[in-house]
Order: sequence, then C-alpha cells, then structure tokens
Amino acid sequence: MGKSTPAKAQWSSKWTFIFAATGAAVGLGNIWKFPYITGENGGGAFVLLYLVCVLLIGVPLLMAEILIGRQGKKNPAHTMSDLATRCKRSRAWGLVGFLGILASVFILSYYSVISGWTLDYIFQAGAGDFHMQSVQHIDSLFTALVSNPGKLIFWHTLVILLTVLVVIRGVEKGLEKAVVFMFPAMLFLMLIMLGYSMSSGAFYQGLHFLFYPNFAALSTHSALNALGHAFFTLSLATGSIMMYGAYLPKRVSVTSSAITIMIADTGIALIAGLVIFPIVFANHLEPGSGPGLIFKTLPIAFSHMPYGSFFATVFFIMLFFAAFTSAISLLEPSVSWFMETFKISRSKAVTIAGCIIWFLGLGTVFSFNIWSHIKLFGLDFFELMDYLTANFMLPIGGFGVAIFAAWRVDKAIIKTELGEKNHAVISCWRFLLRYISPLVIVILFLSFIGIIKIG
Ligand code: PHE
Repeated sequence: MGKSTPAKAQWSSKWTFIFAATGAAVGLGNIWKFPYITGENGGGAFVLLYLVCVLLIGVPLLMAEILIGRQGKKNPAHTMSDLATRCKRSRAWGLVGFLGILASVFILSYYSVISGWTLDYIFQAGAGDFHMQSVQHIDSLFTALVSNPGKLIFWHTLVILLTVLVVIRGVEKGLEKAVVFMFPAMLFLMLIMLGYSMSSGAFYQGLHFLFYPNFAALSTHSALNALGHAFFTLSLATGSIMMYGAYLPKRVSVTSSAITIMIADTGIALIAGLVIFPIVFANHLEPGSGPGLIFKTLPIAFSHMPYGSFFATVFFIMLFFAAFTSAISLLEPSVSWFMETFKISRSKAVTIAGCIIWFLGLGTVFSFNIWSHIKLFGLDFFELMDYLTANFMLPIGGFGVAIFAAWRVDKAIIKTELGEKNHAVISCWRFLLRYISPLVIVILFLSFIGIIKIG
C-alpha cells in the first residue's frame, strides 16, 4: 500500500492481507477497551452479547467490507458510490462510506492519545517504576500521567507523527514485518501474564465475572455498547477493512480471511479479560473503574513477577505496536479520500488529515485534566467521541453496509467474490446480512434511545 495508484498495489500473499487486517483489528480495543467496558457493563452477560454480535453481525460484515473493498479499490466513499453505479443504484450509497471515514477520523483522534499512554508506560516500566510497588502507588502513577496535559500532548503528537510517517512512506512492507513478529510475541506475553493471573488467587472469580451471564448486571446501554464494540474491535464501519480489502489478490478467499481475523481478534480480547479480572479481584479493585483499568491492574502483576520490569517493558512495547498498526489503518481512509477527492499527493493528504486529527485529539487530552469539568450530555470530550462513534456512527454505518451489500450489490458480483460453488456460504451470509444484522441493529438502537424496551 501507500502508492498513489491503489488499484495496482496488492498484498504479496493471502497471509500479508490477513496479518495486516489482523493488525488493524487487534489493538487497544482488545486489551484496553474490552476489559474496561466489560467491567463497566457488569461482565458475563455483556461478553455474551458481544460474542453474539461478533458472530452474527461482525463476521458477515467483515466479509462484506472485504469484498466491497476488493471490488471498488478506492477510498470507502468512492468505492461505495462506484460500486452502486455499477449495480445501477444511487450514488448516495457513497455517504455510508463517508460516514465511515468520519468515524475513523474521530476514533483516531482519541486512539492516538491512549496509544500515547502506552508509550509513557514503556518508559515507566523500563525505569522500574512498578517494581515492588503498592496498589495505591501504581494507581497514583496513572493519575499523575493523565493529569499532566503537557506530557499527554507530547505523546499524542509523537504517535500522530509516527503514524503520518508510515502512511506517507507506504505501509505494506513495514506493516507486514511488524505484524508477523508482533502477533506471536504478544500472544506469548499474554500467556505468561495469564500464568500470573491464574496464580493470583482470584482466577475463578475473574473467570466467573467474564463468563457467567448475569443479565441483571446489564444496563440499558449495554446491548448497544456490545454491538458498538464488536464493530470497533473488528475495525468495521470505518472504511479501514474496505481499504485493506482493496489490495487483496483475487484468488484469496474472503470467508476464510474474515474468520481468521475474527478468531485472532476475539481470542486476544478474551485472553486479556482472563488476565485482567483475576488481578482486579485479587487486589480488591473496582472492575468498572473506567479507561485506566489496564494501566492500574497490569503493572500490579508485573510488580510482583520475577523480571517484572523487563516483561512490563516488553508488554507495553507490544501494546504500542498493536495500537500503532491499528492507528495506521485508521489514518488510511481519510488520506485516500483527500487524495482522490482533491487530486492531491499522498504526502499533502497525510499532512492535512494528520493535522485535523491531531487538533481534534487535544480535546481528549484536556478531557482528562483541565477540561474534565466540561460536559455535554453528562459526557466529557473523550467520552463524547467514544459515545458518538461506538453508539451511533459505527452501528449506523454497519447497518448501511449490510443493506448495501446484501440488498443492493448484484448477486453475480457476490458470487464471484465468495466463490461460485459456495452456495451454503452465500445463502447463509445473505440471510444474516439481509435480515438478522439490520434487525438486531435496529432493535438495539431503538431500545437504546428508549423507544422500545427489552427485558
Ligand atoms: N480495531 C482496533 C482495535 O480494536 C481499532 C480500530 C477501529 C482500528 C476502527 C481501525 C478501525 O484496537
């Protein structure tokens, strides 16, 4: 990728695509967001809803976005409007792609700030700041970081600059290498930490919290949060997967790619949950304590482990890489939109998009300190960005993609994309996207805004 003529560029193999798309999918969403929103939404029942959303809506949408991307080979807005024209439908379908681009800009603005936290933690871990420290001390390190706007701006700026540099130079090779190495290393470290949390004395309690579905613990927002998170974690409805699908060679199977990405993504999230909640319970912490959850819990595990500072450093480096490969995929849609809409060079487009996103990110930086008292609908700036994207833009965008792919795109195109002979796959995919996904999205949405009541 990274060439100004995307139609000609291609991933070198099926695995490059799968690695790149997995790199986009696995990130802060799995290790930072999944545990804290699971904590806020009461555990098992939320996890169950999230898994159902991933399987029934996430996987078919993942397939839809990959195949739409491969058909269109442009930025998400133009890809969807071109494909709509080819199928003799309204060009207005491009708006769904545009909504995704907007969502990617909003998400990256705060994603970069949180990625900055992981950079800071690499240095804290390296300096041995967690070694043999009390739970209170570790808590205070997090508070000190987020209440320092200068530090947060520094890290946020650095993350945006690094992302911009990679996207300007083209991400194909760098990304492939980074992900091939990162993914197994990350898994290995998570398993070491799983070993620690199993011996923490509260493993069963963590397991119970994560997998025992107590529906009474759900709030009115939980179901939509679960859906929004399924989209967020699989990078759906933001154009990222469509952009990567544009570079996918013709012979590669969409179905098996989507399933592989989903398994890797869900697996990492569940392992992260299994690592974090036993530590939470063993140390009498609050599972619903919000976005600082992993930064307050994981250092506790490292503080008591042999070679803890070393493992902590490596872990936060991995977490940063995971976040970074996602950040790259979040920048790509707006960059290619600027390039193709205004016919400008890649470097100009990257500069413009980078500046807008950096500026927007300042709102998130300040929401943790000097603006923490400023609220709209009871939400600070960061919460508003997250709320707007996860509860509105992604579900609405996902609904649009589902309707477009299953009702508007010619069946002949679907057949060539999913394989002429795969009748069962095609029927099942179409059924889920035509009826189940839109219905579930509408029901959850209406229940969220209070028009209908479930349960
Ligand atoms: N899926 C990424 C994560 O879980 C975040 C992301 C969202 C990346 C949307 C690209 C598009 O961290």
